[in-house]
Amino acid sequence: MMFSKVEKCRICGSSELTKYLDLGIMPLANSYVDPKSNEKENAFPLEVVLCSNCSLSMLSIIVSPEAMFSNYVYHSSISRTFQNHCLEMAIGVKERLGGKDGLFVLDIASNDGCLLREFRKKGFKVLGVDPAKNLAEKANKEGIATIPEFWQESVALEIIKKHGKADAITATNVFAHVDDVHGFLGNVLLALSDEGVLIIEAPYALNLIKHSEFDTIYHEHLSYFLVKPLKMLFEMNGMELRDVEEYNIHGGSIRLFATKKGNTSFAANPENIKAFLELESREKLYSAGAYFEFASKLLDIKIELLSLLSRLHKEGKMVAGYGASAKGNTMLNYCGISSDFVEFIVDETPEKQNMLYAGNHIPIYPASELEKRKPEYILILAWNFAKEIIEKTAKHQERSGKYIVPIPKMRVLSGAEEL
Ligand code: TYD
Repeated sequence: MMFSKVEKCRICGSSELTKYLDLGIMPLANSYVDPKSNEKENAFPLEVVLCSNCSLSMLSIIVSPEAMFSNYVYHSSISRTFQNHCLEMAIGVKERLGGKDGLFVLDIASNDGCLLREFRKKGFKVLGVDPAKNLAEKANKEGIATIPEFWQESVALEIIKKHGKADAITATNVFAHVDDVHGFLGNVLLALSDEGVLIIEAPYALNLIKHSEFDTIYHEHLSYFLVKPLKMLFEMNGMELRDVEEYNIHGGSIRLFATKKGNTSFAANPENIKAFLELESREKLYSAGAYFEFASKLLDIKIELLSLLSRLHKEGKMVAGYGASAKGNTMLNYCGISSDFVEFIVDETPEKQNMLYAGNHIPIYPASELEKRKPEYILILAWNFAKEIIEKTAKHQERSGKYIVPIPKMRVLSGAEEL
């Protein structure tokens, strides 16, 4: 398995890259290990650099995308919170596009059709593209037409030929996975109608830095976006950023609306964009100091979590994890935690069950394991869905079980009302 080194900023091309974080050598977060297999696990450096010119944060290496995305075990539809977010997005986008029925929305990296399902309910004509054959198959079976490919020129051309140009192209939680962001936009320009809008949603790097969300760093996430570098990227590619919105999902995400340059049919909100840029500047995110400060806090998180888990271990308390998320894997591997401290993890994703977590090899089971083993503590590894997970585990609360939520700060809770 191959990886390449990043020598230049993927947005502005500057070679002035400052390394501010080194999480060591880490396995691929979404590569679950079959306990029966003897295959050797691959591990790669996990470091983050900052572009001094446009303030894009990037991993210092790129692992081959085929290794990470061809069979993808992440199903967006597992989380009710995310499904609701998708519904709200479909409603909001329809409103912003004038409320018409029959508009054509193309979703890049459509996963199991989670977002398109909602767009379809709202009267859109929908089409998805996703390289994970297992997920595309699942969406197709549900009647959500999905092309099982990476987003590329040949796919854009095939879509235009068969379906015409899209009124809206959505790309949620995928742009951070893309190395050639200019090529990605070039293909968007091909497939987007002249009055159409591109809607990108990505975790906001301001929250990563300000709320110590370091576990969202793993090999799939090549970039960590602020509004400034994305605005620059659109302008470099004959596009214009028209609006930015912020949502609570995935630890705080930004939704960016961009159109072809000169397309005034989509209402712009320059004041809003200005407010985001001012906020980023006020938070000193255009210079390296804030990033080094962020990096220096991570050791405290590690010490706090290890101290808590070692105390619980000494007291004979059992701890289980909830959510075998990619971010949970960064958290546990960075902290050096294995099944001595967290006996098992539960997750509702069928493909993750009865597998081992990469690196630390903690076993993963269906959620029913909680009722069999009755741990005293649940470490919420998918802290972005803490409320939903706490609500789902009422029985754990009935027997006075507690929750550990490690991000944005270490908390031990008895219920959702303490969140
Ligand atoms: P998530 O935090 O969305 O992402 P990432 O892998 O990018 O860090 O992962 C959440 C995981 O938690 C995912 O494997 C599904 C699982 N999960 C459940 O099993 N049940 C739930 O109710 C929720 C919300 C998540």
